[in-house]
Amino acid sequence: MASQSSQWNNNTAFLLAATGSAVGLGNIWGFPYKAGENGGGLFVLLYIFFVITLGLPVFMAEVFIGKKGKSNPVSSIETLAKKSKSSSKWSIVGYGGILASLIIAGYYAVIAGFVINYGFISADKGIDKAMRFLLPMLFVLVIAMVGYGAVAGDFSSGLNYLFSWKAEDFSAGTIQAAIGQAFFSMSIGMGTLMAFGSYMPSDQKVSKASAVVVTADTGVALLAGLAIFPLALGLGFSPNAGDTLVFVTMTEVFAQLGSVGQFVGPLFYFLLAVAAFSSMISILEPSVAYLTQKHSMTRAKASTYVVAFCFLLSLISVAGHNVWSNLSIGALDNPFEAMKYFADDFLLLLVGTGMSIFVGWRLEKVIDADTMGIHNKALMGLWVFILKVISPVFLMVIWTLGNLQILFDIRFF
Ligand code: TRP
Repeated sequence: MASQSSQWNNNTAFLLAATGSAVGLGNIWGFPYKAGENGGGLFVLLYIFFVITLGLPVFMAEVFIGKKGKSNPVSSIETLAKKSKSSSKWSIVGYGGILASLIIAGYYAVIAGFVINYGFISADKGIDKAMRFLLPMLFVLVIAMVGYGAVAGDFSSGLNYLFSWKAEDFSAGTIQAAIGQAFFSMSIGMGTLMAFGSYMPSDQKVSKASAVVVTADTGVALLAGLAIFPLALGLGFSPNAGDTLVFVTMTEVFAQLGSVGQFVGPLFYFLLAVAAFSSMISILEPSVAYLTQKHSMTRAKASTYVVAFCFLLSLISVAGHNVWSNLSIGALDNPFEAMKYFADDFLLLLVGTGMSIFVGWRLEKVIDADTMGIHNKALMGLWVFILKVISPVFLMVIWTLGNLQILFDIRFF
């Protein structure tokens, strides 16, 4: 019998932990470079569109499963499946999430390592307490960079780049990239939100808490774009440097900014490392919760196993950046790209679809207005309809078309 999660005793704990999870490399490293790779404007607009139409509803579904199931991702789903007389096989959705989390952990740690390397710093303080002011500091710094970029960089080109629509960028791959990035950035699809949802105090409402976290996360991603592109474009750098944008391009940008850059640069990488660290912890949480609750391990033992496993996986990811950088797997350039693709664009969307179908079709009777904090019938109906029809159909069509394009270079548009 799986044990239940213990609960947080206040409402800010969920908000802090979930925002700490959501705001990470995905926002500041991933979002700008993917926007750059996919031509800017269209990607950004699609991203915002998907955050609102699919991201928030599926985010709420994931938190709901955790809050109602009160346990690790696998056990929560099993409990709810039983309650709704559904097959216990639905737990595959939870296992899928855990698989995604292990792979993501394997490459995320490596990028976080780059951050520390590029900032030449190391953090040695009580990280959870530090989050309370470091996270707001990251917000403030990014806003300050936007302001500075508006003056010292080329703000109108940056804005134009981020928001202007170029029809030729429209492809299944761009849509899949935008959805994949949206899910990744919001920490959807691998049980993190279920685990955090299971620690939520009973009087906290799923809808409101989800909306706060999703808004903060999207805000930071857009601000990161507004901070980086005006500076990079203004100093004549190319916006599509791929995943080296925040590292190689931005260190060069900071170098050109003289004394301001010498101050802002290290601070930027330091705060990015903090954001990455809190996300990393949340990535490990589904597997740790699973091992402690389902297999009665101590947290220390579970964490050791999970970290050891991720360490081994991360060696593959590291090798993708050097000795195996030419070892392509299908259309994917190297093992690092392959891990990233398989976890972010392949698994997260699959698990997201599974959660959406599970909550929409199997848990309709279990959903209650009070847990969700949605007392308007029409709104509730809309949420369930999105989970039942819109999100599964849309996600699977895009998933199929995107995979055909990326893996086999078969394009329909
Ligand atoms: N959202 C984080 C980021 O933007 C990464 C992350 C943390 C994540 N937990 C997750 C991604 C769970 C997917 C699922 O960097």
